Amino acid sequence: MTDSIAWNAVHAGYGRTVAVEDISVRVAPGEKLGILGRNGAGKTTILRAMMGDAKVHRGTVEVGGADVTQRPAFQRNKLGVAVVPQTRDVFRSLTVRENLLSASADAERLDHAVAVFPRLGERMRNLGADLSGGEQQMLSIARAIMTAPRFLMLDEPLEGLSPTVAHAVMDAVRRMVTDEGLGCVLVEQHVRTVLEFCDRVMVIERGRCAFLGTPDALEAEGTILSRAVGIAAH
Ligand SMILES: Nc1ncnc2c1ncn2[C@@H]1O[C@H](COP(=O)(O)OP(=O)(O)OP(=O)(O)O)[C@@H](O)[C@H]1O
Ligand SMILES: [Mg+2]
Repeated sequence: MTDSIAWNAVHAGYGRTVAVEDISVRVAPGEKLGILGRNGAGKTTILRAMMGDAKVHRGTVEVGGADVTQRPAFQRNKLGVAVVPQTRDVFRSLTVRENLLSASADAERLDHAVAVFPRLGERMRNLGADLSGGEQQMLSIARAIMTAPRFLMLDEPLEGLSPTVAHAVMDAVRRMVTDEGLGCVLVEQHVRTVLEFCDRVMVIERGRCAFLGTPDALEAEGTILSRAVGIAAH
């Protein structure tokens, strides 16, 4: 299990504040973990702890068998972990092409990113600012995969997208994750998407893990979804 990412009894937050407590989960290559929870539950903080952008008070985060808790953020990316942040990681004043090449100058990866999102191929000369919300999200994901990660973490990639565009984005993500055998962490408010896409789901309630298991087991639990996510699972 050394080729995986893991949170080992992680307590993490900002300054002295602890936002998440006792988070333990491991994601192997090819595995898809979903994270559900209400606004402010701590979902983003869990991803930030892995990337070195939140303070880990206790426990460790691990990439490829190495404890990276004390390592600077950029090194985690070098080890093969990429995140698509909730804020959409796009330079508005650069073209699509420049946005992609700023993540990595690898021409082969550029072709690959365009193969995953053909829409971006048609927009190469457009500025980031001139893209639709869906295209910006595609570009943000494409920038993350330019670095050829082995583990990809997506923070609410469907937020604000129409159902049709959300569907297109998820289709592309599903294909890419499967083709490349990536380990994937998907934080999403859209419960159905998480239950369909992921092998396992973690439900976060006020900073703690309220459930970790398969989508089937979660649906069988009944009350956790409505209590911790506030939505019925259909
Ligand atoms: N930079 C920060 N400084 C201080 N507190 C923060 C910071 N970012 C988040 N928090 C707090 O940490 C807690 C968890 O926030 P987090 O962003 O992880 O939640 P979330 O589940 O991702 O929410 P959302 O669904 O709204 O994105 C919240 O109480 C939030 O106010
Ligand atoms: Mg968040």
